[in-house]
Amino acid sequence: MSRFSRRTPASLEPNRLSATLETLRAAGAPLVDLTLSNPTRAGIAYPRAELLDALNDPRSLAYEPSAQGLLEARQAIAARHGGLDPANLLLAGSTSEAYGWLFKLLCEPGDSVLVPRPSYPLFECLATLEAVRAVQYPLIEELRWGFDFSEMERHLDPRTRAIVLVNPNNPTGTYLKRDQWLHLQEFAAYRHLAIIADEVFFDYAWQPDPARASALMGSHLALTFTLSGLSKAAGLPQMKLGWIHVAGPEEARAEALSRLEWIADSYLPVSAPVQHAAARWLELAPAIQSAIRSRTTRNRQALEDAIRPESGWRVLPSEGGWCAVLEAPRIHSEEEWILHLLQSRHMLLQPGFFYDFEREAFLVASLLPAPELFDEGLQRLTASIRSV
Ligand SMILES: Cc1ncc(COP(=O)(O)O)c(C=O)c1O
Repeated sequence: MSRFSRRTPASLEPNRLSATLETLRAAGAPLVDLTLSNPTRAGIAYPRAELLDALNDPRSLAYEPSAQGLLEARQAIAARHGGLDPANLLLAGSTSEAYGWLFKLLCEPGDSVLVPRPSYPLFECLATLEAVRAVQYPLIEELRWGFDFSEMERHLDPRTRAIVLVNPNNPTGTYLKRDQWLHLQEFAAYRHLAIIADEVFFDYAWQPDPARASALMGSHLALTFTLSGLSKAAGLPQMKLGWIHVAGPEEARAEALSRLEWIADSYLPVSAPVQHAAARWLELAPAIQSAIRSRTTRNRQALEDAIRPESGWRVLPSEGGWCAVLEAPRIHSEEEWILHLLQSRHMLLQPGFFYDFEREAFLVASLLPAPELFDEGLQRLTASIRSV
């Protein structure tokens, strides 16, 4: 019997990919890392002085605990989202923490939540930490990674409590559409399921599209939790602030908020300096978003220009986000492609299996790296494609 709970992994040994990477790093190989997901390490121009000035606030010298989060911060978030009611917002240390709180709120140990596939890899881990089962439902490539409700139905079990969606989805960069949103509301409400909508990348569309929906929109037939945070919305993952917006039928909404507040009160993770600085940081967010968007747009264009369809490779269409998905010929598995690129060209991409694509062979590139680095990575990739 293990001394430790099975909420932590059976083995913490690095996988083959991490082990190869470590060996190459230790040998001083000139690596080009196109998996960088940290915007503060990507040479993005941040308004440094203004960001730091916002922390210099004498109010932070007093401790005034508030489980829901300070009103001023919630008002600023509400305003940034086009006039929400701050009373329906609750602050957390990050979006990941918010997931944990929602699983505690909605699930008994052993209950399940439906999570999309392919999508953000952390769900399995966040659910396991709460003794909850993450059951995957497929996003359908032919429907631009939209929902197939009969498939979703097939993955429900009597202990399903919530449906998670990521809008836009990571890594496919595809947005929820209005018709699907209406349908999902009905689907969930009819089955007494909550909806958890992760909208951390919502502001990063290549261009507007009136067919798109935010989970903040509409009449909320189902209890709906919409998540975001400074990590992506302001490109400030180090500041550690996420938020949950609660909507739905009145009684359920009010009780969910009170219970979430009770959970938050056990942790009180958001520091006073961050809460006081949040309003100012959110004023700076559009400029930071725009710097990130110019980077991702530029790199996406460079990628599309570099990958010729006659090579057998293609860049999947996308509507936004911070990464791009490449489809490689299935002459190798994803792992073989990644290891081959790493060993022969010293360049790193992510395999599609990190995101649980249903089939091979997808490789995921971050669009954040500095242009010189990104272009060097592209050169190595295209040289490798030509030599295969
Ligand atoms: C879809 C998605 N949700 C949530 C997060 C985590 O956000 P946070 O830093 O607020 O925990 C990420 C981070 O990459 C993400 O891709």
